[in-house]
Amino acid sequence: MICLQPITKPSPFYLAPKKPLKKPLKTPTPIHSLLQYNRKPQLAGETPRVVVITSGKGGVGKTTTTANIGLSLARLGFSAVAIDADVGLRNLDLLLGLENRVNYTVVEVLNGDCRLDQALVRDKRWSNFELLCISKPRSKLPLGFGGKALTWLVEALKNREEGAPDFILIDCPAGIDAGFITAITPANEAVLVTTPDITSLRDADRVTGLLECDGIRDIKMIVNRVRTDMIRGEDMMSVLDVQEMLGLPLLGVIPEDSEVIRSTNRGYPLVLNKPPALAGLAFEQAAWRLVEQDSMKAVMVEEEPKKRGFFSFFGG
Ligand SMILES: Nc1ncnc2c1ncn2[C@@H]1O[C@H](COP(=O)(O)OP(=O)(O)OP(=O)(O)O)[C@@H](O)[C@H]1O
Ligand SMILES: [Mg+2]
Repeated sequence: MICLQPITKPSPFYLAPKKPLKKPLKTPTPIHSLLQYNRKPQLAGETPRVVVITSGKGGVGKTTTTANIGLSLARLGFSAVAIDADVGLRNLDLLLGLENRVNYTVVEVLNGDCRLDQALVRDKRWSNFELLCISKPRSKLPLGFGGKALTWLVEALKNREEGAPDFILIDCPAGIDAGFITAITPANEAVLVTTPDITSLRDADRVTGLLECDGIRDIKMIVNRVRTDMIRGEDMMSVLDVQEMLGLPLLGVIPEDSEVIRSTNRGYPLVLNKPPALAGLAFEQAAWRLVEQDSMKAVMVEEEPKKRGFFSFFGG
């Protein structure tokens, strides 16, 4: 059987004692947050890093990834602005629980009705995280709003009085039409979110080609909604299979976790949960790797099938 091991970064899954304990523990080893590592990750690359979170296929977890990675970055001490570029079906504000605080959008900024800082919604929990919405919910892509306008916006964020943010995350709409082209235009790097199923993978492959055509060569992927029980039963592709098919560096592996749905409905991103949920830790790890421009290196591990679980995915 095949599974993946990150061999580059400390992982909470490495906290399991290496030597077998004399008495077996009744309760499982607690999962600790990555933040316990008393070190701030080293920010690689020039700031602001403009990262588009995209997928091609809809509903695979782009907005969930944007919210959780954005807040993880803030928790790690970096400033981040998340732009919801999914104009028709905006919902990043809902996931973040900030929907009641969005008074102005980019449309009003471009019309001269408000200043940019009035459209930026600062998170109360982490003040170094801000949200920017393009337009009101259910509205169409504003006439004339395209890649140039978004690039102008990113430039305006860079030139703010208080200084440029470390990260600008762009939550891309599904599909490969005008909204997608607009969202990728100002980006220098991309996070491609995919699930381990053939429809999502085909779309991810197409999107990878389009990103490369647009000059975005730094593309890392997140494999979301992974179920080890299904992989074990050979009913789902393994992460290694996905990596071989797409040929992209791996930023993170996120398990299927009912806590994600619960947190979505509560408007309270998973990474803020105490105690942390498994998917929350996986998002935190992904954020850490994004900061350090690192990626998981897949290695083949031979294991007894019955011993495998999600932890063995991470080499725990
Ligand atoms: N790891 C996961 N485990 C369980 N549910 C998940 C997971 N990731 C995402 N979901 C759920 O999948 C649904 C779609 O997620 P999300 O809105 O982030 O996708 P999206 O790619 O942004 O969709 P769209 O293309 O419509 O913008 C949400 O209900 C979310 O809670
Ligand atoms: Mg979305």
